[in-house]
Amino acid sequence: MRVVVLTGAGISAESGLPTFRDADGLWEGHDPMVVARPESFAADPDLVQRFYDERRAALGRVEPNAAHLALARLEEALGDDLLVVTQNVDDLHERAGSMRVVHMHGRLRAAWCTACDTRHDWTGTLLDLPPCPGCGAERLRPDVVWFGEVPYDMDRIEAALWDCDLFVSIGTSGVVYPAAAFVQYALARGVRTVELNLDASDGSSDFHDSRRGPATELVPAWVEELLASELGQK
Ligand code: APR
Repeated sequence: MRVVVLTGAGISAESGLPTFRDADGLWEGHDPMVVARPESFAADPDLVQRFYDERRAALGRVEPNAAHLALARLEEALGDDLLVVTQNVDDLHERAGSMRVVHMHGRLRAAWCTACDTRHDWTGTLLDLPPCPGCGAERLRPDVVWFGEVPYDMDRIEAALWDCDLFVSIGTSGVVYPAAAFVQYALARGVRTVELNLDASDGSSDFHDSRRGPATELVPAWVEELLASELGQK
């Protein structure tokens, strides 16, 4: 029983991190085309660095919630048969204990040096142009995939989608590609698909089983259900 779980901002909402497109979402207060594109960074690096410095600082003030913890428990049971593919740049999955996590949109707590092309764990600010720990250049940017850039680890993700028996989507609006196409990929292979989301998403009608509610309730219940089912027996 191989399971691929896709997560979005909704899984971290109850930890206190805003989503992007909900009423109080990040894109309500910021224009994504101004703060989340390489061209914007070239035009006004301070504005972009300040936006991500604030988000990185906010990440230090929150904790994983019951949904993150439930997926970590599921990984304990399934081991390599579970892969969490997250669109989130926060590290709440890892802080909850998950190890098999792919950050397809990058990580907030990492800096990418565009001079020597190395990446460094980073919890501080980048606005003050700290030197790269590797080459010393002042060319560090957030290691986040911006609009128009190619998501990370797509080969690994596609291989896991090709090989899975169950695809589950948690807390995502299904409007950003390529993540929004993963359910189609799974359906084309005849794989069972489950959605756990507060509201209907753009892809809800594509799921065999689409459940409504907060992630901190839906995810632990779904994990218990799966582990209790014979599918969860290794
Ligand atoms: N529990 C479950 N789902 C929730 C909760 C919650 N507590 N709160 C919100 N949601 C759902 C919303 O109903 C919505 O469908 O989470 C989804 C959040 O959608 P978005 O804000 O669009 O976030 P996401 O889908 O992760 O965005 C995808 O867009 O801006 C880019 O790169 C960014 O990774 C991001 C991508």
